[in-house]
Amino acid sequence: MQRRDFLKTSAAGAGLLVLPSGVLSGASAPSNKLNVALIGTWGRGEAHFGALQDENVVALCDVDEQHLEFGAKRFPKAKKYVDWRKCLDQKDIDAVVCCTADHTHAFIANWSLNRNLHCYMEKPLAISVKEARLVRAHWLRKKDKIATQVGMQRHAYPNFNRVQELIRDGAIGKLTDVYAWGNRKIPRPGYLPAEGEPPAHFHYDLWIGPSPFHPYNPGYFSGGPGMNCLQWNMYWDFGTGQIGDMGSHTLDIVWDAAVTSGLPTTMEAKGEPFNPEVTPVEMEFHCRLPANDWRGEIGVHWYQGGAMPRSPRDWVDLNKIGHGAMFKGTKGYLISDFTGRLVIPFGDDADMSYYDRRPKDQMLPDVGHFQKEWINACKNPSLKTSCDFDYSGTMIETMLLGLVAYRVGKKLEYDAATGQVRNCPEANDLLGRKYRQGWTLDG
Ligand SMILES: NC(=O)c1ccc[n+]([C@@H]2O[C@H](COP(=O)([O-])OP(=O)(O)OC[C@H]3O[C@@H](n4cnc5c(N)ncnc54)[C@H](O)[C@@H]3O)[C@@H](O)[C@H]2O)c1
Repeated sequence: MQRRDFLKTSAAGAGLLVLPSGVLSGASAPSNKLNVALIGTWGRGEAHFGALQDENVVALCDVDEQHLEFGAKRFPKAKKYVDWRKCLDQKDIDAVVCCTADHTHAFIANWSLNRNLHCYMEKPLAISVKEARLVRAHWLRKKDKIATQVGMQRHAYPNFNRVQELIRDGAIGKLTDVYAWGNRKIPRPGYLPAEGEPPAHFHYDLWIGPSPFHPYNPGYFSGGPGMNCLQWNMYWDFGTGQIGDMGSHTLDIVWDAAVTSGLPTTMEAKGEPFNPEVTPVEMEFHCRLPANDWRGEIGVHWYQGGAMPRSPRDWVDLNKIGHGAMFKGTKGYLISDFTGRLVIPFGDDADMSYYDRRPKDQMLPDVGHFQKEWINACKNPSLKTSCDFDYSGTMIETMLLGLVAYRVGKKLEYDAATGQVRNCPEANDLLGRKYRQGWTLDG
């Protein structure tokens, strides 16, 4: 039976394990392993080796043949590819883990979904608003059958749940605004000049992939394992700078606790002067998110590269929190980093007598192992993942719209239903990006 036919029939019984071999049995049976393709087999790719070691890694893909060999040492039985498009044609694949450069993420996500493959995509899910919307729309059509996750693994820290409980249970009253910031600064003047030739083991043209061509320079590849993204992610054609990098992790704190769904109605931004080659170091955006079933309309505010929200108290130095979040309510503030939190009540109710602490047995359950959460959901369609392509898609779409507002320097009115800016045609031109001939976003 073809995989897509199997998915069609098996998913009818939610709660049944989806098995590559079509056999139902216990969770530890060999037939219950996923057949996985790992795309990007070094750097961040290595962070997935442990979670994948109990599955069948049947395909490896990397544009750098030395990096491919690095992955092959751990998963020697896998077939090897340098072009992810060919890799995704391998017939026995059930699921894809992708750790490539950001400008290929939406491509690989779409191609995986179009082949009914479960997909774990490293953050960010996309680098343009249109990419984010397309991936999300694709997944929403298949969400009962296909498990997705974006690599925001800090989401599994228990602090995320504790912050969410405090906010939802009214520890700071009615929520009005949420703030997140990151202090990373990697200033660059522009794309690197041509220097030397790519080594024979490195398929540079495939690395450039769908983006406009820029000449080779070894500087783009001079970073250590898992850190090399900091050599290329600030250039517009390869990434989105801090928005997609630490922003994906830090905004996740406020998205989880306070936003969860929805898209902005308005967006404005400011920062350092626009550089057509490099994303901004210093920038901030401010948007309005509509009310949902548990809260009213809120403001969402992002600051990076030196821009910071004001501290609610002189004795709290927000600059000491490199990547942090703050929630403002009618009765106080909550300040958080990834692992700890501080509640500052204010006003007549500062004794917090209004607040009912949630009993221990009603606290949110731990996420557990973040990558395994996805693997389990691939095998059992009734299980959910924390950072699926809907949740992560709306988050990155919002952030990328912030970059568009920064580029045009105007307050945008956004129609979330159509993904169009109502009041600024030049902003609409920046919602997508140009691709090189031969590369299809939705193949
Ligand atoms: N979740 C996290 O905490 C976290 C941490 C670090 C990096 N990341 C993300 O992981 C991704 C990779 O980051 P990195 O620092 O490992 O970068 P990297 O430049 O080292 O790339 C990782 C690997 O992917 C390969 N690769 C790149 N483009 C490819 C393509 N088109 N096809 C096949 N292989 C390709 C590279 O050769 C390399 O082996 C980035 O998107 C980054 O944002 C996430």
